[in-house]
Amino acid sequence: MLFDDKFLCNFINSEDYNFIMPAAHDAFNMLESRNGPGCDMLGWLDCFNLHTKKILEIAEYIRANSQIVIIIGIGGSFLGAKAAIDFLGLDNFNNNNKIYFLGNTMDPEPLLNVLNKSQDKDVFLLVISKSGSTLEIMSAFQVLLNFMIGKYKQNFNKKMVIITNKTRGFLREFVNIYNCESFEIPENIGGRYSILTPAALLPIAIAGGNITKILDGAASVITEFKNFDFKNNICLKYAIIRNILYKKNKLIEILVSYNQRLLYFLLWWQQLFAESEGKNNKGIFPTYLLFSRDLHSMGQFIQEGSKICFETVICVENLKTDVKIDDSFYQKYINFTKNKSFNYINSQILDATIRAHTQGGTPCGLIKLKDFSEKELGKVVFFFEKSCAISAYILGVNPFNQPGVEEYKKNIHI
Ligand code: PA5
Repeated sequence: MLFDDKFLCNFINSEDYNFIMPAAHDAFNMLESRNGPGCDMLGWLDCFNLHTKKILEIAEYIRANSQIVIIIGIGGSFLGAKAAIDFLGLDNFNNNNKIYFLGNTMDPEPLLNVLNKSQDKDVFLLVISKSGSTLEIMSAFQVLLNFMIGKYKQNFNKKMVIITNKTRGFLREFVNIYNCESFEIPENIGGRYSILTPAALLPIAIAGGNITKILDGAASVITEFKNFDFKNNICLKYAIIRNILYKKNKLIEILVSYNQRLLYFLLWWQQLFAESEGKNNKGIFPTYLLFSRDLHSMGQFIQEGSKICFETVICVENLKTDVKIDDSFYQKYINFTKNKSFNYINSQILDATIRAHTQGGTPCGLIKLKDFSEKELGKVVFFFEKSCAISAYILGVNPFNQPGVEEYKKNIHI
């Protein structure tokens, strides 16, 4: 994994680095010495030590005994798992058996669709909620619980696993009463930092991902990311660069991918940075785009609109699948596609777009991943988690709370 800043040099100079360095130093030290705001929520820094035996055993049981796995969760209790499963290209498990994510909307249609598909199938239910009391989750849970009781009678509790906190909330109470299998989301890890806990690792293992390799990948960058030398620590460098750009009125960061399977990874990143930084009337607005699709819409704004954005592009270097364009039959377009492949043309578009956007006044940083492997996933997850915490400390906010998300809940009358 690399962070290439060569397209940023026209936007950032050595004075910018010198100016921000004291704040970066304080932020970095606060995180390393674990004494900054929210320091009781740093369990994710030690996730690599997790014991995976029980996760692997239960995942194996579920894979062997289910045709459909329904996962209920929202926010951090959903996006990490979905992002990782898509990143690894594991949409199905055991060939054509499916995983469905519910509980992330109050639109009843997805729920009804999955219920219809589940009638004659072996179903397993996974409920993920740290608090164990989130409205959207509990609503879906009640409906699916009735469905599971109807289907499996007194054995319904053998067909579900609940992932929640250790002691409180409706779900923990349910586990205790009905003796369901359960996992714990540690109290000192917030939802959006929980991707390297059972909250995402169990779904990933059910989908067939190698969670040991993911944890190894994250562990492999710990030493590098502890180094306060931003030239040799891309995690610190990314946090510093985004804050320099923010001070230059680049108020929006667009995470860009040219690979469809990264869509939910972009959404996971968006939640991580939005909830960690957007407070006290501060913060870079995190959004995402999928190119080429969005080059034909948002590309216009980025090229010629208000200069308020910067881009961070994620590209993946070694791709296993490709399609070569055979233009032998209709050679009219020979100068267009020239018998090239989709991945080749995609990489040419990426290169051309970065140069155009940079010339148009939008700074572009480039994150390069080696491949779509578990190891690379572990690295990039830890990279963003740690850089997000450092970046929020540089900004002067607590990265680990999200008081703003409670406001809308107070207005709900049911
Ligand atoms: O990052 C967070 O803490 C939130 O996004 C939560 O993950 C989300 O609100 C879901 O909460 P819970 O897991 O308690 O149901």
